[in-house]
Amino acid sequence: MNDKINLLKNKRQKALAGGGEARIESQHKKGKLTARERLHFLMDEGSFQEIGMMVTHRSTDFGMETEKYAGDGVVTGYGTVNGRLVYVFSQDFTVFGGSLSETHAEKICKIMDLAIKNGAPVVGLNDSGGARIQEGVVSLGGYADIFYRNTMASGVVPQISAIMGPCAGGAVYSPAITDFILMVEHTSYMFVTGPNVVKTVTHEIVTSEELGGANTHASKSGVTHFACTNEIEAINHVKKLLSYMPQNCEDKAPALPYESANELRPELNSILPEASLQPYDVREIISHLIDSESFLEVHKDFAENIVVGFARLAGRSIGIVANQPAFLAGVLDRHASTKAARFVRFCDSFNIPLLVIEDVPGFLPGTDQEWNAIITNGAKLLYAFCEATVPRVTVITRKAYGGAYDVMNSKHIGADMNFAWPSAEIAVMGAKGAAEIIFKREISGAEDPEGKWREKEKLYADTFANPYRAAERGFIDEVIEPAETRLKLILAFKMLENKVVNHPRKKHGNIPL
Ligand code: COA
Repeated sequence: MNDKINLLKNKRQKALAGGGEARIESQHKKGKLTARERLHFLMDEGSFQEIGMMVTHRSTDFGMETEKYAGDGVVTGYGTVNGRLVYVFSQDFTVFGGSLSETHAEKICKIMDLAIKNGAPVVGLNDSGGARIQEGVVSLGGYADIFYRNTMASGVVPQISAIMGPCAGGAVYSPAITDFILMVEHTSYMFVTGPNVVKTVTHEIVTSEELGGANTHASKSGVTHFACTNEIEAINHVKKLLSYMPQNCEDKAPALPYESANELRPELNSILPEASLQPYDVREIISHLIDSESFLEVHKDFAENIVVGFARLAGRSIGIVANQPAFLAGVLDRHASTKAARFVRFCDSFNIPLLVIEDVPGFLPGTDQEWNAIITNGAKLLYAFCEATVPRVTVITRKAYGGAYDVMNSKHIGADMNFAWPSAEIAVMGAKGAAEIIFKREISGAEDPEGKWREKEKLYADTFANPYRAAERGFIDEVIEPAETRLKLILAFKMLENKVVNHPRKKHGNIPL
């Protein structure tokens, strides 16, 4: 027996060595951790249980039968993160560049199948040269097997992709289907075709970092939700993200113990600037409403005119969507709409209540917006809110104009509780523009058109630039003092805790894509 145990130990030892010392050293020289080091930092100490350590590839082309590594370039298994079950795969760049073979894909599919059956999140740590070139179509089939499972798991268990190295070609589509992507600055990149192909086809000269680095995808494309300065930061973000989520779509997000205290926040009464056109940072309002230091902003550098992220309110997880007057006056444009829509759908899939903080002057005008389908993209956000069945609460702090009023979680599209501050302006449009249109003839025929315009602007503002017309109709449930907002929100979400909504039976809806 001892011999047999020694054989096992020997085999394990070999598997743990990955592609060997030299390649591990080269990985470290690039500023990257190895697949196993990453797991060490991600999982609770001693909790990781490996599955498929002895798996090797089956390829016999190009002399591959003589070069085999136990594990075949990916470490897969399960364990706990902050005490909660998580399935994980971590690609090992030291073995064939972490490239995806048939068996490598099978290992990933195996843990995804377990995750779906057992209802726990899947975290992928990606670091791969793409399809295993020596295997051809078999490797492509492996990708498709993963994409299929990503799609089947979508909305069933949370899926998170941390990109820790290359992720190119077909490989990008698995992370793209998952719920959240994190990238590491300077050591990770994602693109469908790399700089060389780009140069040949479009004659553009661009580096990997410019084309598909973390900052590019965090700010320009929105492909990644987080750009992290190093791998440890990315891993810590994964852990934090998981802490706001339930294990699966049947589960509730974990709540932290909370002792109720004085929930009034008098400083909110003076937080808005005096002039209604003046910008301010909505994050300041958020920070006064939520439990201290609990905000995890998602997609921070993309479409900054809307702020989305997770927070805790009296210990419970909530998702926040807030117009950001500090950027483009908080207008909704196509990127802001898709960013918020995706976030709303995630929260709704996983039973995370939604808080909307509204100060929106409308949709952004212009050819760029219209020709790039602001209509379809704006409709995504509208659709996402309409179909969301989680508890939904809105606070209108200032502007709620035009179609954007409807879109931003209005009562009409299924919001449960809608509050407004006394500073709210709920109207079809701003008073100046409205006066110009409806009093056009009076203004142009007046002796002093400018003065007439101002007079009519004031009339329109006095009539509509307040929350009371909407409150009279019941479109606003309560006009509240800003200082009371946190208290009102805690009570409203508590009241909505057992909300049940059943939509008409259908196969699935057809969200405007
Ligand atoms: N299939 C098989 N082996 C691969 C591979 C792939 N797709 N990508 C990388 N490798 C192997 C390399 O042969 C090398 O093996 P070695 O350690 O035995 O020398 C090892 O992985 C590391 O690759 P290397 O090119 O030395 O690393 P790098 O950091 O300089 O470059 C890449 C990384 C990903 C840019 C580069 O390897 C690459 O372009 N790979 C191919 C990408 C691709 O076209 N994939 C197929 C389409 S999806």
